[in-house]
Amino acid sequence: MAQKIIRFGVIGCGLMGREFASSAARWLHLTDMKTRPEIIAVCDTNTDLMDWFGDNVASITQKTTDYREMLANPDIDAIYCAVPHVLHAKIYPEIISSGKHLLGEKPFGMDRAQNTVIQTALDAHPEVFARCSSEIPFFPGAQKVIQMAQSGKMGDILEVEASFLHSSDIDPNKVINWKRVEAVNGEYGCMGDLGMHVLHVPLRLGWKPKSVSASLVKRVTERPDGKGGMSPCETWDNATITGTVPMEGYDFPLVLKTWRIAPGESNSWSIRILGMKKSAYFTTKNPRQWQWMNYQSGEAQVWQTQDLGYQSLFPAITGGIFEFGFADSIQQMWAAFLHELDGGDANGFHCATPHEVRDHHAVLTAALEAGKTNTIVDVDY
Ligand SMILES: NC(=O)c1ccc[n+]([C@@H]2O[C@H](COP(=O)([O-])OP(=O)(O)OC[C@H]3O[C@@H](n4cnc5c(N)ncnc54)[C@H](O)[C@@H]3O)[C@@H](O)[C@H]2O)c1
Repeated sequence: MAQKIIRFGVIGCGLMGREFASSAARWLHLTDMKTRPEIIAVCDTNTDLMDWFGDNVASITQKTTDYREMLANPDIDAIYCAVPHVLHAKIYPEIISSGKHLLGEKPFGMDRAQNTVIQTALDAHPEVFARCSSEIPFFPGAQKVIQMAQSGKMGDILEVEASFLHSSDIDPNKVINWKRVEAVNGEYGCMGDLGMHVLHVPLRLGWKPKSVSASLVKRVTERPDGKGGMSPCETWDNATITGTVPMEGYDFPLVLKTWRIAPGESNSWSIRILGMKKSAYFTTKNPRQWQWMNYQSGEAQVWQTQDLGYQSLFPAITGGIFEFGFADSIQQMWAAFLHELDGGDANGFHCATPHEVRDHHAVLTAALEAGKTNTIVDVDY
């Protein structure tokens, strides 16, 4: 049966825009999709980047430096928007008002006030399907941890730790980019950049901290500007947030680490859930494996490790013995988006929703205040 085509425009042709183009170009990788994306338009203020799309994506019929021209194009069904954070609250509401569906990059507004502007536009346009990008939970090992938590068999939860650790900012000679500029990235700093990644799974599991404390670290205060001078580097480098999650009859600590300076870590996302009956762990450092422990009174405590290989949520041509990687997680996320857009259930794990994004802003706003004032702050959902 012919696949239904969803025609996309891409606003922001940088790092993430190109990842989508690559996923769409190898859509034949997925074996069971009723829909497929076709990128027909691109928009970036940097025309060199659009040329890369023009050279590599044959279906493109529109290239523009003005996103409003793209929004006026009636042939486009949906938009992927991957632009710097300060532009989310400007561009997302216009996308939504144009009636086009949206996969927007996190953090969906660089702070809570800007997120509210986007939420208001969504409330006014319930016909628009919108989701937020967050791909790492689509790794098979992450899915195993999530399924174990959803089974309800882990016993009382002792602690959950979700981390996203980067290391390149440890180099003080790394040239500054917009992610280190408060006016463009937002006051959250590393939390705005990485917070959705660490909160996606806890929020999906219903684990909403009622209060938070936070240790915020700012070590590198200026960076080369790339033109021979130095620029102030204003954003928080690292944040360790500890939340208190209410359960029936008890609370547990939720530790969230969003670190831009984590020595030795290139892009390590992990989730560890420790329970009285079962525990589970996955890290992208070991992308094909997950670990878990079953415990019963009096028995030995033994962690088990399984090589999962390629067991994706959306079936693919890759043999089960092979590895799953970052580009696969991006494609699986896109499959979930298209599946749900077409009325499906995203095979049981949908992309992050605007509600989840709103809750993540509530947590990060409280964490920012907690870190700056060295207090425990209630989260106002
Ligand atoms: N999901 C992930 O794993 C992940 C990873 C990295 C970044 N991101 C997110 O993706 C978004 C973009 O980040 P990036 O790393 O791709 O940044 P980037 O700087 O590589 O790309 C952003 C692009 O937006 C373009 N742009 C700026 N203003 C524009 C405008 N007015 N109209 C059109 N284009 C404009 C820039 O020229 C640039 O090419 C951010 O929200 C970021 O948080 C997500």
